[in-house]
Amino acid sequence: ELSPIDKAKFAAAKRAVDFVEDGMRVGLGTGSTAAWMVRCLGEMVREDGIRIKGVPTSVRTAELARQVGIEVISLDEAKWLDLTIDGADEFDADLNLIKGGGGALLQEKIVATASDQMIVIADTAKEVGTLGAFPLPVEVIPFGWQTSRALIEEALINLDVMGRDVTLRMNGDAAFVTDEGNHILDLHLKRIGNPRQLSLVINQIPGVVENGLFIDICDVVVVGHGDGRVEVRD
Ligand code: A5P
Repeated sequence: ELSPIDKAKFAAAKRAVDFVEDGMRVGLGTGSTAAWMVRCLGEMVREDGIRIKGVPTSVRTAELARQVGIEVISLDEAKWLDLTIDGADEFDADLNLIKGGGGALLQEKIVATASDQMIVIADTAKEVGTLGAFPLPVEVIPFGWQTSRALIEEALINLDVMGRDVTLRMNGDAAFVTDEGNHILDLHLKRIGNPRQLSLVINQIPGVVENGLFIDICDVVVVGHGDGRVEVRD
């Protein structure tokens, strides 16, 4: 028996794979919710015989996709995708997102942007009025990351945010390392008044590779409830 949170994630994943059709090239997101979606897709491949090609957004997702029988290709092989299904850490009424809680935001943003459609699957706890309670992940290259952090802190002073704390994400005693060999800075902003402006400003800073704000990228959010009901927002 699944916990209410897993029931919600599974319900959203199950509904989202209805958007997948035979022959599609599909971006495969990362995280615990996306993992349910990958398992559902695997079942469709094995049992219904649908043919899809999957482009994973992390090493973790690539492994799971292969395990469940999905043909995995690279983004460069796919060139363009019909659809990406991924989780999120927060979404607002405009369907703007914070992603990267799992550290895969860079590949996730490239893959989602290369897709005709991005569908987010989430439980109700991810819905917010204003983005920013969840710390915003920013991927920085290891070289001079402390300088990049100082520049981010300086930039935050002039922006419409409430918090200013910037922390290096850790993995035990060492800095967390992304699939691309970079680090993640988590920006504890509490409230992001102007996500579009913040995203542009952060991505201008030397050493920053990408940030976890997804603005105008997501087309549909499938929200799962603990009792297995789903709502589709678009
Ligand atoms: C991975 O880097 C993230 O963007 C995930 O999509 C996000 O953290 C959601 O993960 P869960 O589905 O595990 O909450």
